[in-house]
Amino acid sequence: MTQTASVADARRAVIPMDAPIGAELTGLDVAAGLDDAALAFVRDALHRHAVIVIRDQHLTPAQQTTFAKQIGEPRVSFYNRYAVPGQPELSIVSNITENGEAIGIADAGMLWHTDGSYLKTPDLYTVLYGIQIPERDGRALGDTVFASATHAYEALPDAERARIDGLRAIHSFERHIEKKRAKGQLKRAPLSAEQKAALPDVDHPVVRTHPVTGRRGLFVTEGHTAEIVGLPEGEGQALLERLNRHVQQPAFQYRHSWRPGDLIVWDNCAVQHLAVFDYGALPRRLHRSGILGPVPV
Ligand code: SIN
Repeated sequence: MTQTASVADARRAVIPMDAPIGAELTGLDVAAGLDDAALAFVRDALHRHAVIVIRDQHLTPAQQTTFAKQIGEPRVSFYNRYAVPGQPELSIVSNITENGEAIGIADAGMLWHTDGSYLKTPDLYTVLYGIQIPERDGRALGDTVFASATHAYEALPDAERARIDGLRAIHSFERHIEKKRAKGQLKRAPLSAEQKAALPDVDHPVVRTHPVTGRRGLFVTEGHTAEIVGLPEGEGQALLERLNRHVQQPAFQYRHSWRPGDLIVWDNCAVQHLAVFDYGALPRRLHRSGILGPVPV
């Protein structure tokens, strides 16, 4: 970094999206490395806006991993077959095949979810870097949509909040895969017995408290939440469906239209997300790092 801190600071800006969440950050060159002030700026914007977009970056996989390590501790994905070679903390999200083999996870994000909620310690943040973005007639395809779990919780009527505070729900990777298979959406190889054994169902609070901001947010998703603990099946499923429909409302959303070089970080304690599969066989490739989080409370 050649800029003095004050010159660099003056160039940085946070431009909120025209949406309840999301902001673009300018004046950052992530490949050059971020100093403490720049990192504090990124963290503060992330906690205020839940999704941050840093455009026009030129990152090697190693530089993305360095950035992820500055933000927290990156998870080594159990999908090691889709890791970037030499970068076990970086997963390839892609529909591209080479020599008849998928190079990445082709069905990531087909259902609303937060990353790693099926684990005891879900991902706190996710870093996703756009490399190859499909386009048709000059328009980018393959958007990612984010919904604020915090705004959704805060917008619930008092009686509904009182009803769900204190409930717990089961999150299940295995039932997630089954749900995708039933919808004809599954595009990945089945889990090995070893992977299944490493991914038992877990239970988490239906409403979680953000470890940094202290704000409360809904923590059930269409993708991974299988049932509400202690409620009869019909009642639990009806409640889950109502909460899922509630959080997915456009009023709580920011929809990101990708450009190559976009680096996005989102806060999984504050948002859910969904990938839009509108690009067919047009090639799409992004690199994803998940940052370890605490046990949700
Ligand atoms: C994901 O859900 O992790 C991927 C999102 C995307 O590909 O847009």
